Amino acid sequence: MHSIPQLQDKVSELFDTRNYLSTPNELYEPIQYTLSQGGKRLRPLLSLISCSMFGGNLSEVENAAIGLEIFHNFTLLHDDIMDQSPMRRGMPSVYTKWDTNTAILSGDTMFVLAYDYVIKTNPEILYNTLVLFNQTAREVCEGQQYDMNFENLLHTNIEEYMEMIRLKTAVLIAAALKMGALAARASQYDQDAIYDFGILIGIAFQLRDDFLDAFGNQAVFGKPIGNDIVTNKKTFLYLKAFEKANPAQKNQLIQAFAMTDSQQKVKQVLEIYESLQIRHETDNIILELHRQALEILNKINISQENRNSILPFLHKLVGREV
Ligand code: IPE
Ligand code: IPE
Ligand code: MG
Ligand code: MG
Ligand code: MG
Repeated sequence: MHSIPQLQDKVSELFDTRNYLSTPNELYEPIQYTLSQGGKRLRPLLSLISCSMFGGNLSEVENAAIGLEIFHNFTLLHDDIMDQSPMRRGMPSVYTKWDTNTAILSGDTMFVLAYDYVIKTNPEILYNTLVLFNQTAREVCEGQQYDMNFENLLHTNIEEYMEMIRLKTAVLIAAALKMGALAARASQYDQDAIYDFGILIGIAFQLRDDFLDAFGNQAVFGKPIGNDIVTNKKTFLYLKAFEKANPAQKNQLIQAFAMTDSQQKVKQVLEIYESLQIRHETDNIILELHRQALEILNKINISQENRNSILPFLHKLVGREV
């Protein structure tokens, strides 16, 4: 298979020369702004990794990979409106730089643009690719709705939270991997296994995102620290704290979450998280998911050499700072 750096170069190649500008400028400039920022471009990279490790031809998955990344970026435009998040990738989010209506409409256009790429897939695998893409896109919306529903609840349980992040985040990561397997004409068993692997990695990825939202370095993370607390998100951190807290601490947590001064609120909640060792709890569950994912990876029909070449990448992914 190609090495991970080779595949990373390939992803850059796929995106760096692309120009999305058209008329009216007001519609396309935010698209160009967003897609030229980069971000990690994790999802297309996963599609290429998967295709390559199953011995496929990269050109068979490239268009779907581009489509998935554009779709992902579209969800971010709308997500930042929903989460009232003024910053992304260290720059103003689209609705802050322009306005909400622009972010809605440029986002909608990106969703269409994503299909423009996905439908260029080889007709031999196009139907399965589209079914997977549609199911995934719908599930992301379902997850986003649960995420918002939970903002208005005092509490939900960790099981419901896990299902919410499976939908809003993990299914897209899993689909990116499965599309690579599909393009490589991997067996149904391997396609399903790499999908299940992706779900576990995707859940770990969102847990890490929640962790970094509370404890990350803003300059590196590129998003405002504490925004999940300000917007009453029921993250793993909050739910675990609620679960571990004694009655007095539970009250403190509820009172802190009801505070109106955002800075004070974040400070108070973080203090409670620290006192309940929530960092440690989050690290532990991420490690456990990583372990389960590796168990699945070990049963996938690829060479030991290919498995070994993706392990360091996986390690870095679950421990990411960005
Ligand atoms: C952000 O995704 C949304 C989540 C699912 C946490 P990424 O962390 O992949 O964002 P970029 O594309 O690298 O900026
Ligand atoms: C990401 O959830 C899920 C989607 C964007 C679909 P977050 O709301 O945690 O993502 P960030 O932190 O804003 O990137
Ligand atoms: Mg969100
Ligand atoms: Mg958000
Ligand atoms: Mg987040």
